[in-house]
Amino acid sequence: MDRVLSGMRPTGPLHLGHWLGALENWVRLQETHECFFMVADLHALMGEYENPADIRKNSVEMIVDWIACGINPSNIFIQSEISEHAELALMLGMLTPLGWLERNPTYKEQLREIQGRDLTTYGFLGYPVLQAADILLYKANKVPVGEDQLAHLELTREIIRRFRHLYKSSLFPEPEALLTKASKILGTDRRKMSKSYGNAINLSDSEQAIKKKIQSMITDPARIKASDPGHPDSCNVFSYYSMFSRDLVHDVRDWCTNAKKGCTDCKKNFSDVMVDFLRPVQKKREEIRDSMKDGTRYNVALKMLVGAGQQRAEKVAKGTMSEVKKILNMNQWIHEN
Ligand code: TRP
Repeated sequence: MDRVLSGMRPTGPLHLGHWLGALENWVRLQETHECFFMVADLHALMGEYENPADIRKNSVEMIVDWIACGINPSNIFIQSEISEHAELALMLGMLTPLGWLERNPTYKEQLREIQGRDLTTYGFLGYPVLQAADILLYKANKVPVGEDQLAHLELTREIIRRFRHLYKSSLFPEPEALLTKASKILGTDRRKMSKSYGNAINLSDSEQAIKKKIQSMITDPARIKASDPGHPDSCNVFSYYSMFSRDLVHDVRDWCTNAKKGCTDCKKNFSDVMVDFLRPVQKKREEIRDSMKDGTRYNVALKMLVGAGQQRAEKVAKGTMSEVKKILNMNQWIHEN
């Protein structure tokens, strides 16, 4: 069976862009693939090393969001607690030419997200090597990612080929990207939806917050009075309708092009659509929260939420690591009898 591995950095609340750009796809993959979904907290440390205090809290919140969206807890694990990730990354680093790292990944996106921080670090350069270790430890052959991650995946394949060539070993399959169509959703201000732009609708937003955010959205700028006919195809609110309420799209187009409803009403109506869409996720969120006896103690919460997934991942990672060590002539003699 194909094995899937993917990861997300726990850097803040998840929003609609995460749902459309990744989670929706992950949930579906669980039905046909063996899946591992990783909380990439070591990768988060790359940007948050000056202030790591929130990483654990964000990890728990992200896991709650994942489960609320339909990710099976036994498919979830936390990267930093399986030390094989760090160990394999170190070893792969030994055989990864510096040139591959310097030329390969397109960091622009991350650089934009991680403004105001010094990223001239070894960890930043080595970020894709750690990502390769994530994928290799599980011998994943399918990696669902967005387009921005394709360069990292290509580097993973190059590392695998080098490993195969150097050690005459076909331990690792070459992973294939399962490209998630770039989520077309824009933020409420029409820029890319992102936490750092403050234009995101979060999966955990309250009803009031959702209403306020939607009411602030700019509609068709050419439609000045409610009696003017509008142009839905240049309206961000209309594009939201088309993503979250297919059955209303026809009516909304009619309201707009025939000036039957003004933008304020149309947005009010969309707020209801959005609230309805998020209601089941939020209900599930509450249930999970209630089931965490002591939600403030994150480690306790984690054990309850994803203990089984963690163990499952750890077993696979340890198995692969011991194979790697054999290949590198570093097998653990101390435990042998
Ligand atoms: N780099 C990915 C991101 O920023 C997260 C990630 C870490 C990942 N390890 C991974 C994705 C392994 C896929 C496979 O989104």
